[in-house]
Amino acid sequence: MDLYEYQARDLFEKYEVPVLAGIVADTPEEVRAAAEKIGGVVVVKAQVKTGGRGKAGGVKVAKTPDEAFEAAQAILGLDIKGHVVKRVMVAQGARIDKEYYFSVLLDRANRSYLSLCSVEGGMEIEELAVERPEALARIAVDPLEGIDKKKAVEIAEAAGFAPELVDKVSDVFVKLYAVYKGEDATLVEVNPLILSADGDIIALDGKVSLDENADFRHAGHALLEDKAAADPLEAKAKENDLNYVKLDGEVGVIGNGAGLVMSTLDVVAYAGENHGGVKPANFLDIGGGASAEVMAAGLDVILGDPQVKSVFVNVFGGITACDAVAKGIVGALAELGSSASKPLVVRLDGNKVEEGRAILRDANHPLVTLAETMDEGADKAAELANA
Ligand SMILES: Nc1ncnc2c1ncn2[C@@H]1O[C@H](COP(=O)(O)OP(=O)(O)OP(=O)(O)O)[C@@H](O)[C@H]1O
Ligand SMILES: [Mg+2]
Repeated sequence: MDLYEYQARDLFEKYEVPVLAGIVADTPEEVRAAAEKIGGVVVVKAQVKTGGRGKAGGVKVAKTPDEAFEAAQAILGLDIKGHVVKRVMVAQGARIDKEYYFSVLLDRANRSYLSLCSVEGGMEIEELAVERPEALARIAVDPLEGIDKKKAVEIAEAAGFAPELVDKVSDVFVKLYAVYKGEDATLVEVNPLILSADGDIIALDGKVSLDENADFRHAGHALLEDKAAADPLEAKAKENDLNYVKLDGEVGVIGNGAGLVMSTLDVVAYAGENHGGVKPANFLDIGGGASAEVMAAGLDVILGDPQVKSVFVNVFGGITACDAVAKGIVGALAELGSSASKPLVVRLDGNKVEEGRAILRDANHPLVTLAETMDEGADKAAELANA
């Protein structure tokens, strides 16, 4: 789960990472009040979960509360790469001497953590990594050892910090690592980390991703979730404990077991090449216990996607036998009634396959087509989606 900048700022504060005052606001009036409260120069910053806010006009300096009001009018409602700004943070203005970059992240490929650091912060780090890779230090961090003072000094030196700054900046790295570790994050990024005109090191912008697998250790993380901004279909799936990921195509896919669903996506994409290039619309694994309720919830989510033109149900009966799955499908269609309006191709195999197919044949639902094999089912579903 990615956090908003203001949420990252609050976490930083909790771990004593130096930050400036920041107040969130949803209206220009609230922004004016926040600017009055903070006093002096402020920066009004769009709160959206995407990068490049500054370039898109989402970060504006305001010298007075009235200017802050105007900045808020310009920023609220702005569309930044498809994210509409509903909230801003009014941040205390910093007098910036230098901008740096620091991050620590999960390096899956190397089964390790990785710290990236540069004395050339501010600009987009992806660009820096491509254009001047030598300016970006990459230091592997042993997950068992983390970033202690010694490691932090190594990072600061590798990045090329001036000797007189190494001590101060490495203290901040240790604290940022404490955020990473303490909150079970997969990313803590500060861009820019600044040296202020007064000689202080301050985190001016923060990006934090939390590992949802560790939510059980962090009761507070549920509060950070932005239910309104989540994809409504994904939110609905989550409520029903379904493993659902929305994709871009037209063929809805339901299967049991992540491996089967993954290969179903491949087979559907392949079949789609013969049918106008249709593609899978989603990943949905209903897991082992494919009961009628779970099937209904899954179908409900998929049929709620306006892009879906057909659905391919691909189930291999195991502990939950095919007859139970077939009853689930029939029950789900009855439950959904007229809201089930798209053709369904069903391929069953495995435990009690004959019983399962017989149940579907007897139900004789006008929307359901039976397929013998996975390839046949994918082809039929792709054909229907392209019709
Ligand atoms: N509180 C502040 N005081 C003074 N200047 C600021 C402040 N916050 C940001 N800035 C300036 O604005 C620039 C852009 O801000 P920030 O890094 O927060 O947004 P961004 O990088 O455009 O967005 P993102 O990080 O989402 O890509 C900073 O590099 C800094 O120069
Ligand atoms: Mg930034």
